[in-house]
Amino acid sequence: MVSEQEIRYAAEIIKQGGLVAFPTETVYGLGANALNPLAVARIFTSKERPSFDPLIVHIASIADLEILAEKLDDRVYILADKFWPGPLTIVLPKSKIVPDIVTSGLNTVGIRMPDNRIALELIKHAGCPIAAPSANKFGRISPTKAQHVKKQLPDIDCILDGGSTTIGIESTVITLHSDGFVILRQGKITKEDLEKVLPYSKQDIDQNEIMSSPGNIKSHYSPNKPLYILGDNLEGLDTKNAAFLSFGTIPDREFKIIEFLSENGNLDEAAIKLFEKLHILEDSDVEFIIAEPVPEKGIGIAIMDRLQKAAHKYL
Ligand code: TXA
Ligand code: MG
Repeated sequence: MVSEQEIRYAAEIIKQGGLVAFPTETVYGLGANALNPLAVARIFTSKERPSFDPLIVHIASIADLEILAEKLDDRVYILADKFWPGPLTIVLPKSKIVPDIVTSGLNTVGIRMPDNRIALELIKHAGCPIAAPSANKFGRISPTKAQHVKKQLPDIDCILDGGSTTIGIESTVITLHSDGFVILRQGKITKEDLEKVLPYSKQDIDQNEIMSSPGNIKSHYSPNKPLYILGDNLEGLDTKNAAFLSFGTIPDREFKIIEFLSENGNLDEAAIKLFEKLHILEDSDVEFIIAEPVPEKGIGIAIMDRLQKAAHKYL
């Protein structure tokens, strides 16, 4: 349990321009005062993150949303009412108060209200919105436990240890067109969930939107050893020194390690365990990892998105 006192101490670090890693319901974030460009610059340095990759700003109240974003129409309030606090990031026209470094120079800002007590209290006590990417080195596996943050970012000022995150995969990122929403990054909240309150846009995502959302295009989430997604071709492959990341299937050949995302095909459980198991396998002495694909429905779409970005190729 993280005490009130620890949260206040961490909030003080944020106020003074430092970095704090904190849990959200999705993954751990590496936070700084979103309105302090020097503090935000430290996030990019410590993550070795390229400056073209914009950060998500975390808020604890709708009042914060109204300070950070402009041209808020009813749809934003409908989404906020239905999905916040929760794993939905909405990309909106930014106000002048948001420093360019946060948005990589874009005129939009990604905003979300996390569904985690520690995160919300940290934001409230810091008295400012908190810009936070996932607390991992750029391109590597996202952290779902405090120890994952320590492994990749040993030098940061403070880590609030709130135990394992409860969703395990980063938020869904959307933006709004005049006729509806489009998804820039898949997550727990699916197209079907969103369609219950807003139409899906008929206008295609344009090239600018794709380029502005690097989480959408770049290879990401990679363990430090090759990962392949299992097709049907394991013939002739020596897997004695490999790991199998299973979604319930027991392979009929020898592997050095078998880890289960779920033993009975449960997608929510698989999402929670995905990064945790990849961390375990990255730290093991196997030569490569073969992951069993999961069904592309519900959060399975986001799991496959992460596996495909982590993967070298299909087998
Ligand atoms: O669940 C999450 O979203 C976690 C926790 C910590 O909140 N955060 C997270 O941040 O995943 P990060 O930095 O790993 O991913 C941010 C991604 C960017 O790579 C980009 O794809 C999208 O969010 N994004 C942020 N601001 C954007 C903008 N203005 N326009 C388009 N995409 C944006
Ligand atoms: Mg990330």
